[in-house]
Amino acid sequence: MIYNLLMSLLGRLETSQQRVFEWRLGVATGAEISNGSSEDALISDENSRYQACQWLPTRRVLRDLRPGSSDVLVDLGCGKGQILLIAAMLPLERVVGIDLDEELVSSARRNIELAQPHLKARTVECLVRNILDYPFDDDSTIVFMFNPFIGDTFHTAVSRIFESYDRGPRTLHIVYCFPWEHDWLIATGRVIVDNVRPFLWPTRPWWWRGGSVIVSYLVVDDVEKRHNEVQIPRRLFRPQRAIRRWSGTNENFGVVDHDTSQ
Ligand SMILES: C[S@@+](CC[C@H](N)C(=O)[O-])C[C@H]1O[C@@H](n2cnc3c(N)ncnc32)[C@H](O)[C@@H]1O
Repeated sequence: MIYNLLMSLLGRLETSQQRVFEWRLGVATGAEISNGSSEDALISDENSRYQACQWLPTRRVLRDLRPGSSDVLVDLGCGKGQILLIAAMLPLERVVGIDLDEELVSSARRNIELAQPHLKARTVECLVRNILDYPFDDDSTIVFMFNPFIGDTFHTAVSRIFESYDRGPRTLHIVYCFPWEHDWLIATGRVIVDNVRPFLWPTRPWWWRGGSVIVSYLVVDDVEKRHNEVQIPRRLFRPQRAIRRWSGTNENFGVVDHDTSQ
């Protein structure tokens, strides 16, 4: 009974967060998955349906990266542009969204126009493209994904990110919400977990134990070779237990718990 009341209160707070975001910017970015089943969350075998990520947790993760005027963020699977707007409220050089759904991209473009007075990024754009047809930009420094695709599509997209890094080594982050392909990413030996934050607001107890997290990975040329040289940005608060837990594999959320200190 108390548990149900608490869950319903948390659900209401989550919804109000989205309403406040839309009201402040005068946009419409919300979307619901109709029945919450896992098949319904996919458009096809590998591609996810649209759902907006949450404003406050995502803003925090992006701010943690301390992005500046030379940063370029690309959102792979941008939907109606929620992330493009959150990112563009920071003073970035460029924010780019890619989505295969034409209607979603039109909504994103409309939202960008409506929110213009609140945006600080120099340019914000949005392209209709399947990620498999997108030649990855070598000036990008932050790649954002809210579990947009899985399997071969994900592996191809991420391999292109690594190729781009190899052509022009730079500080390059992959920010991944609900990171279904985390184990594959770790197994490439090309990323270091730099930060982990809750995906939901309000934050739930023991939030780092399940898949509702946002993991920020730093791309490197080789984890073994570079681990000690890599500069992780300094931060007042680092969620150490969450970083420890997500620095290893987890067999799709939770079977293996590396965090034995709990
Ligand atoms: C979960 S939504 C994320 C939306 C947005 N990034 C956010 O966080 O609010 C995933 C999006 O990925 C898009 N998508 C799925 N497969 C794709 C592909 N192969 N290429 C481009 N976009 C894709 C979907 O149309 C959907 O809008």
